[in-house]
Amino acid sequence: MLSEVLMVSAPGKVILHGEHAVVHGKVALAVALNLRTFLRLQPHSNGKVGLSLPNIGVKRDWDVARFQLLDTSFLEQDDITAPIPEQVEKLKEVADFPEDCAINERLAVLAFLYLYLSICRKQRTLPSLDIMVWSELPTGAGLGSSAAYSVCLAAALLTACEEIPNPLRDGDGISRWTEKDLELINKWAFRGERVIHGNPSGVDNAVSTWGGALRYQKGQISSLKRPPALKILLTNTKVPRSTKALVASVRNRLIKFPEIVAPLLTSIDAIALECERVLGEMAVDPALEQYLVLEELIDMNQHHLNALGVGHASLDRLCQVTMAHGLHSKLTGAGGGGCGITLLKPDVEQLAVEATKQALTGCGFDCWETSIGAPGVSVHLATSLDTPIRQVLDGL
Ligand code: PMV
Repeated sequence: MLSEVLMVSAPGKVILHGEHAVVHGKVALAVALNLRTFLRLQPHSNGKVGLSLPNIGVKRDWDVARFQLLDTSFLEQDDITAPIPEQVEKLKEVADFPEDCAINERLAVLAFLYLYLSICRKQRTLPSLDIMVWSELPTGAGLGSSAAYSVCLAAALLTACEEIPNPLRDGDGISRWTEKDLELINKWAFRGERVIHGNPSGVDNAVSTWGGALRYQKGQISSLKRPPALKILLTNTKVPRSTKALVASVRNRLIKFPEIVAPLLTSIDAIALECERVLGEMAVDPALEQYLVLEELIDMNQHHLNALGVGHASLDRLCQVTMAHGLHSKLTGAGGGGCGITLLKPDVEQLAVEATKQALTGCGFDCWETSIGAPGVSVHLATSLDTPIRQVLDGL
């Protein structure tokens, strides 16, 4: 068991192209969003294991001695269906939730306990430690916040238990794990996601683990080689939407108008493939013209998504406001409100970006200037993240 403080971070995700079409077997490109979740793990010897999640006001601790007496053999199961619902039910008894405990608190605590008990039970004694996780990502906005949480937990616990080495060398401020270690982090993170979401596709945890850009089709996930980091504005319209209802509405439209809707899905597929090709080209030889192609692809896909019926007045507003400043936007994720992305070409003046952000905030939207194609799960020199920790602590 490691004795030093460990600091890790993992990114959220957005879908660049292919939302909805991916449900019908087409390609989707998911990219890491440089809004990150941070985790600080502090080993100690007070006989407690603590979890604190300042973003959602959670602070819990448990006696390690009580966990030590538990028969954790129910967690033994090494296949991709883990954890099965019976295991999650047993964990609920272990968690000992108060009656009025909110659902997001329950799920976050269950994923933590599952990963802590499953990963650390191989140690002679369960470790006493404190974990704090905080995030720049809004929850429930389709930005992969729960996957980033599971990835951070898996990476930190596996490293603390020396199942994987700490890749940080003397003098490094930040470092990443090897491919083999990332595979293990992703495997455990997917299990954490299963505790939270039941039956997720696995794309969110894969993007958060590997970063960059991933192509996703019919359950097959592959990494794009050296994707460029593109600057974007991410806008949350804050209009609530149900992914399930929107997916069902597209399916109904496809059944009702197959001759009209199927070609739209095929065209969205072609947009994703063309975008993948351009990103590959940009990695080798970036030029302004490629950004113009990316903008055209964004516009065409946004129109297709509107034709599929997953647009929303708030998203139209977002597109109009950004277009008034010469910028191109599309919805990302399920649509019907939720989030949109706006591409920022390298030659866009900062003044124009500021004016756009101001106009979007004026519409009541939340807006972040960030990048996509960000690095995946990383370990940081503990002291280098003191400032954000202090900011969070000060805000408590
Ligand atoms: O809202 P999000 O980011 O979870 O994205 C949903 C993406 C869909 O393609 C609409 C649904 C899906 O399962 O792929």
